[in-house]
Amino acid sequence: MLIALSAIPDAGFIETEALVDGVAESLIVHRDGDTARAWLNICPHAGRRLDWAPGQFLKSKDGLLVCAAHGASFETAAGLCVAGPCRGQSLRAVTVEVRDGNVVLA
Ligand code: FES
Repeated sequence: MLIALSAIPDAGFIETEALVDGVAESLIVHRDGDTARAWLNICPHAGRRLDWAPGQFLKSKDGLLVCAAHGASFETAAGLCVAGPCRGQSLRAVTVEVRDGNVVLA
């Protein structure tokens, strides 16, 4: 299990770590109502983490996830960069699902 869904504010983001393909990775987990999505916490622009402090993510007024390093903005349906230096590139999705109220790797 990565985290309880209820521990993530709706439309918000948290950071957690998990083994993905045998490698310890920092993940961004986003809650969207009763569902969750996750991406590697690696910006496609310069490979930096997106949070400005561990687990502290910037969100724009219109709900975009904003990389703290140089301001790339990502929509949260597919993790596509819609503005900033890596426009058109995407975060790497990690498939998760909600099971019994917990976000788990699928
Ligand atoms: S590393 Fe994210 S915008 Fe540059």
